[in-house]
Amino acid sequence: SAAEKGGYDYFMLKEIAEQPRAVADTLLGRIGADGRLSLDEMRISDQALREVDKVVIVACGTANHAGLIAKYAIEHWAGLPCEVELAHEFRYRDPILSRNTLVIAISQSGETMDTLMAVRHAREQHAKVLGVCNVNGSTLPRECDGVLYTHAGPEIAVASTKAFLTQLVAVYLIALYLAQVRGTKWGDEVFAMIQLLAQMPDKVEKVLETMGPVRDLARSLADAPSVLFLGRHVGFPVALEGALKLKELAYMHAEGFAAGELKHGPIALIEEGLPVIVVVPPRARAVLHDKIVSNIQEIRARGARTIVIAEEGDDAVRPYADTLIEVPAVPTLLQPLVTTVPLQVFACELATAKGHDVDQPRNLAKSVTVE
Ligand code: G6P
Repeated sequence: SAAEKGGYDYFMLKEIAEQPRAVADTLLGRIGADGRLSLDEMRISDQALREVDKVVIVACGTANHAGLIAKYAIEHWAGLPCEVELAHEFRYRDPILSRNTLVIAISQSGETMDTLMAVRHAREQHAKVLGVCNVNGSTLPRECDGVLYTHAGPEIAVASTKAFLTQLVAVYLIALYLAQVRGTKWGDEVFAMIQLLAQMPDKVEKVLETMGPVRDLARSLADAPSVLFLGRHVGFPVALEGALKLKELAYMHAEGFAAGELKHGPIALIEEGLPVIVVVPPRARAVLHDKIVSNIQEIRARGARTIVIAEEGDDAVRPYADTLIEVPAVPTLLQPLVTTVPLQVFACELATAKGHDVDQPRNLAKSVTVE
């Protein structure tokens, strides 16, 4: 009913709007007065976390994209090798695991059979398994050694939005907590990052306040045959997520690429008028930033219509952006929390313009409980 949707036409619109709260709720009670994290609720001891020598993340769909972003955070802050696997691929390979492997299984519903089977497979090999889950009382937490809940609240729309942002918060917390208990060379940065994480609900709110032009853009592209998404570093999984949202909701051909891979193939796809959405890393990451600016120039020279998501005040990208979408300046690793939001709004609005029910896309289920 309209009341359930809080006055919005779709649950998805409501859930996109709820993201600042969802992010805040997922941080709540986890940052102590001393600025350190406390995640005792995870039920995996600090001693066990100190013994971890490798992290493997398993998930499907949007949760897998959260895992791909987690890899950058875990390698950087915690200094641990980290692999990310689609749960259904992991399950049928012969992954090398030990007692000191921490497997993180990410699932909004906690009922995705592919992910549950991957968890069983990991535990048979004595790995420690930590679930990241949004649904209390679901199967995943029971099957894991420990769990860190996201607090997105019920997510009704089939395509994941607020759960994804809270999965990002959860994996950042895990990465920073691993760094805290293990004591890495990034101690000061870890401490500063915990403070910055606390500011993210406001940053997400700021993004939501400026989405009018994104909606206009989406409606103007309703008849585009295809949309490409490019990103580097954590912007690469964000590009994958942007493309997935467009496939799920608008039934459009969409692909996400690592911008560095352009010259190795995808640039052949560029033709006059093709919309390409580019996620630009913060200027502080000068090398990455400059490289993506050249990528934007390259595709624009070949006729692409460039839609650029960059931090506010990034004047270097302005001359090459047919459309510029500005997001608040945040550290590179946290940037997916702000750059994903315009992509969600874009896909949702474009699909609505095409007349699709964004809450119930054809052929998809909220949680896939068969292998
Ligand atoms: C389904 C949904 C996706 C979701 C995926 C994983 O395919 O349509 O939106 O990302 O399952 O779901 P989970 O509940 O495990 O996060």
